[in-house]
Amino acid sequence: MKINTFKDPIQVHRAVAKEIIEAIQQRPNLVLGLSTGSTPLGTYAELVKDHQENGTDYGQVITFNLDEYEGLDPNDPKSYRHFMNQHLFGHLNINQKNTHVPLGTGDIEKECRDYEDRIKSAEGIDIQLLGIGINGHIGFNEPGTSFDTYTHAAELSEDTILANSKFFESPNQVPTRAITMGIKSILQAKRIFLIALGLSKAQVIKGMVSGPVSESLPASVLQNHADVTLFLNEEAASLL
Ligand code: PGA
Repeated sequence: MKINTFKDPIQVHRAVAKEIIEAIQQRPNLVLGLSTGSTPLGTYAELVKDHQENGTDYGQVITFNLDEYEGLDPNDPKSYRHFMNQHLFGHLNINQKNTHVPLGTGDIEKECRDYEDRIKSAEGIDIQLLGIGINGHIGFNEPGTSFDTYTHAAELSEDTILANSKFFESPNQVPTRAITMGIKSILQAKRIFLIALGLSKAQVIKGMVSGPVSESLPASVLQNHADVTLFLNEEAASLL
């Protein structure tokens, strides 16, 4: 695991954005795995700024998001599809048809199978962007999730519901289930960038980097992947 530590979050976001922009320049039809939550917002702002100032071309870029809440329509302002349109896709010259976010409504089992097929049809993900939950989840793969999972329907843990309630009026409005790429889907990405910011992530970052590889801390599985880079600020790296 390569660990890049920066003083401030803005430096973290600029470093991640720079890597993504360089990858698009090298491969205009890059397949990019994306995440939601508060952590990647600064990175998306940097990508948008670069697109506006330097015209980086997203015309052929393909994206796959990690997850979506079950039961939320794509037009729902709390859905991850809406989040992505609002914070990233709507500001780039990306073809909406090339942006994939699991559909949280309708036949969920079929959507899980179809989502994996769509990733396969795109010949896999080149770079997967990840955040990490304070409980060690990646995507909505909560502690205890089998390392053998592909895209599947998942139950959110109490910790996650509480953490994500910052985007809702109250915790009881947070959906309790989601569709998420599985651990196996994530590990198939050629490169993985994980961003973590703040003291609240320091303990889990320590466990992920130096603890045992265990399903009780899902992100620890990244120790088994050949090309993972962590982008941390000093606070998140403070226990390493
Ligand atoms: P956060 O979420 O960026 O809002 O902390 C990260 C995650 O749950 O993966």
